Amino acid sequence: MTQSTAIRRVPGRRPRLLDRFCCQGGAAKGYHDAGFDVTGIDKDPQPRYPYRLVQADAIAFILEHGAEFDFIHGSPPCQHDTECQRIQGNTHPDLIAPTRAALEATGRPWVMENVRGAAPKLRKPVMLCATMFGLANYRHRYFETGGGFTLSQPAHTVHTVPQAKMGRPVPPGHNGQYVGNFSGVQAVRDVLGVPWMNRDGIRECIPPAYAEWIGQAFLASRALEVAA
Ligand SMILES: C[S@@+](CC[C@H](N)C(=O)[O-])C[C@H]1O[C@@H](n2cnc3c(N)ncnc32)[C@H](O)[C@@H]1O
Repeated sequence: MTQSTAIRRVPGRRPRLLDRFCCQGGAAKGYHDAGFDVTGIDKDPQPRYPYRLVQADAIAFILEHGAEFDFIHGSPPCQHDTECQRIQGNTHPDLIAPTRAALEATGRPWVMENVRGAAPKLRKPVMLCATMFGLANYRHRYFETGGGFTLSQPAHTVHTVPQAKMGRPVPPGHNGQYVGNFSGVQAVRDVLGVPWMNRDGIRECIPPAYAEWIGQAFLASRALEVAA
């Protein structure tokens, strides 16, 4: 059961968002812009993260503290499911099922994000593309929701602009694929709306516009629920 009224009973308080597996904070910036007070969790120090950061194991933290938050976002590491990692024969832990189990244990509303390679493991995911937010990019990310929160799939228009090859320089009139050791970090910051990030953060991030849209949808759904 979700705790919608808790958001409105504390005047002046921003709803609290737990950003698990936060990296440099692409999702965090979007939730902050939507109106949340953001706390990030990462196993690494993440000095570029713009909000409160706790360095900890994400699953252990959520089991201990998840219920203290109004809404929880989780981006488990995607290397297990990316094509480059498969090609290179690298092995990484698959944290999707343990993340879902921890999220469900909190009883709070939640979102779990991942890449296309992981989409078959997500339950009824909504796909977001940067073009839905007016950005010149085709980064697709998949979002499963739970704990009483749902999202509607936005319309996705056909890609008409050609794409550069993965990680390669972006020819004029193309959209880039910012993976590996891609070049032109400053230009990519502008494209995705992440001016504080370095290459490591950009490679991994959700453009903030995606999370701002999700955060706004969450707040709208809670307001409706309270008003009903
Ligand atoms: C895909 S990135 C998240 C990107 C982020 N959502 C964004 O929009 O910028 C995954 C992050 O999870 C972190 N991570 C991996 N395993 C972890 C664990 N067990 N506990 C906490 N963080 C972990 C990695 O250090 C990495 O920064």
